[in-house]
Amino acid sequence: MKLENVIVERPYKKVYRCEEGIAKVFEPSHPKADVFNEALNQARVEATGLDIPKVISVSEIDGKWALVVEYKEGKTLEDLMNEHPENMETYMDEFVNLQIQVQEKTSPLLNQLKDKLARQINGLKDVIDATTRYELLTRLDSMPTHHKVCHGDFNPSNVIVSDDGKFYIVDWAHVTQGNASADAAMTYLMFALKDKALADTYLDIFCKKSDTAKQYVQQWLPIIAASALTRKDAMGKDFLMQWIDIIDYQ
Ligand SMILES: Nc1ncnc2c1ncn2[C@@H]1O[C@H](COP(=O)(O)OP(=O)(O)OP(=O)(O)O)[C@@H](O)[C@H]1O
Ligand SMILES: [Mg+2]
Repeated sequence: MKLENVIVERPYKKVYRCEEGIAKVFEPSHPKADVFNEALNQARVEATGLDIPKVISVSEIDGKWALVVEYKEGKTLEDLMNEHPENMETYMDEFVNLQIQVQEKTSPLLNQLKDKLARQINGLKDVIDATTRYELLTRLDSMPTHHKVCHGDFNPSNVIVSDDGKFYIVDWAHVTQGNASADAAMTYLMFALKDKALADTYLDIFCKKSDTAKQYVQQWLPIIAASALTRKDAMGKDFLMQWIDIIDYQ
């Protein structure tokens, strides 16, 4: 496989254009199982009938694992939002519609979000004290178990808008089945990192369109903020800790 220009570069991977499509090439330190898992997740989501870029292969390139997926020509919704802030309302509307379309799907073999969250919180022994972990796990346990497809990293950089105006969701590494409100809480935090007012606009629209009480999404925030501490693309410990701390006051 011949790699062409780099699209994005992260500490543990590079995304290239290649003849077959897009190649996400991971550093050797990145677990092999995570690469195959991302491919499996994406294949499961394809099977729900959602129109997403198809997985083509997992291959080894120069001793590194690469996930090859179909290329979708276009711009990310993030770029469009930056270039055309005057269209923000329309973009946000479409963005939420897209998230809800995903959440209308089910895929019974995907991992359960609550299990993943519990595992992540239990793994934070060096970062969060035992009392807070207990609070978080108790709250998580009290939340209902749902089975909706949750992208897990739903933000405008993971939406590609083609020239003919079709929207394609990429980056299915974090997909699970679970509660739509937990997925919305993750999206909220990703917006809030950059623009709190925009995050609140997002939440208003999401809650309205999905007929969800805002408090229900807010209840997930400390749990989701804790889970985000385990990610490599961490939103920053100080930012996430603030959102975890609100658990004490509720
Ligand atoms: N199938 C695709 N077609 C066209 N462009 C793509 C495709 N997949 C990814 N891209 C581009 O590459 C960028 C990075 O890809 P991706 O979102 O999969 O990785 P990432 O953001 O580094 O992953 P993570 O969010 O897990 O760190 C996207 O924002 C998009 O610009
Ligand atoms: Mg991405």
